[in-house]
Amino acid sequence: MHTILVTGTNGLLGQKILYALKKLDVQIIAVAKGPNRTANKYGYHYIDADVTNTTLMTLIFETYRPQTLIHTVALTNVDACETQQDLCWQLNVTVVEQLGQLCQKHHTHFIHLSTDFVFDGTAGPYSETDLPNPLSVYGKSKLASETVVSSLPTPWAIIRTIIIYGVVDDGQRSNLVLWVKQALENKQTINVITDQIRNPTLAEDLANACIACALQKATGIFHVSGPENLSIWDCAIATATFFNLDTAFMQPITTATLKQPAMRPLITGFNIQKAKTVLHFKPHTLQQGLALVAQQLNNKN
Ligand SMILES: NC(=O)c1ccc[n+]([C@@H]2O[C@H](COP(=O)([O-])OP(=O)(O)OC[C@H]3O[C@@H](n4cnc5c(N)ncnc54)[C@H](OP(=O)(O)O)[C@@H]3O)[C@@H](O)[C@H]2O)c1
Repeated sequence: MHTILVTGTNGLLGQKILYALKKLDVQIIAVAKGPNRTANKYGYHYIDADVTNTTLMTLIFETYRPQTLIHTVALTNVDACETQQDLCWQLNVTVVEQLGQLCQKHHTHFIHLSTDFVFDGTAGPYSETDLPNPLSVYGKSKLASETVVSSLPTPWAIIRTIIIYGVVDDGQRSNLVLWVKQALENKQTINVITDQIRNPTLAEDLANACIACALQKATGIFHVSGPENLSIWDCAIATATFFNLDTAFMQPITTATLKQPAMRPLITGFNIQKAKTVLHFKPHTLQQGLALVAQQLNNKN
């Protein structure tokens, strides 16, 4: 049986991968730090492991000998990467080097997650062949991790993605859609950036692309995102409108005025043709994604 090891299964993407894999005839090894926060706890082996613990990760590889690793763990808070650079590098690069050695030893297909933040945002939407030029510590760390993975002699794939949105079981982490919805429901004023353009990506779509990549043993770089190139402001308006919320609490702000610790690329977005062709990727529109989010939130209540 195909054994797939997924890291970060308490996270947004990791959890969606876990749920999608449970529908398939594969052995799933789910690795996350601390207790399992996924609501459905059956049909997979859950291991509480810090991915920086090399001894434990080595033991997990030796015990289960996975054919595929899907590595979603990262320090994903872009501003925290700027202020905690050592931690960022340890989690986003050193861990990838160590997992790469384990994949090499066990002939494991390494599927690694990366980001649009490897680009500088001057020429989006980007294709896989465009030259990266990261502006932030986060972007630099993810590009460094890509270099590690793409230098491996074992089969590898890098899936770059953009602003992931969706519902997580434990609700500990927010994302663009949940943040806007919650703030406007609480009549809380929020600053929403007008001049950053992205492709919002439904977590379920991204999970399906990762799994297609695993099952096909696809290799190389893939750009995987939602189909629409929208400003953050337009995403927020679409969310507010969908949930029938008052947009008066949204304050437009530019990147220059907001002055976040980490520099953000202004215009990204992806050309996703390669993922459509090779991985048969069929992303939902933002409207369709919002409908799924609403349905999942209703089921929780
Ligand atoms: N989110 C986005 O918009 C976005 C955009 C572009 C690319 N990406 C990339 O996509 C991937 C998945 O993102 P995501 O949004 O699903 O991330 P996420 O929700 O932040 O999940 C990351 C998970 O990693 C876990 N983790 C952190 N340190 C760990 C450690 N030392 N050992 C074990 N687990 C650890 C976290 O655990 P806790 O929950 O316990 O802290 C968290 O559950 C990342 O590689 C990210 O760089 C994300």
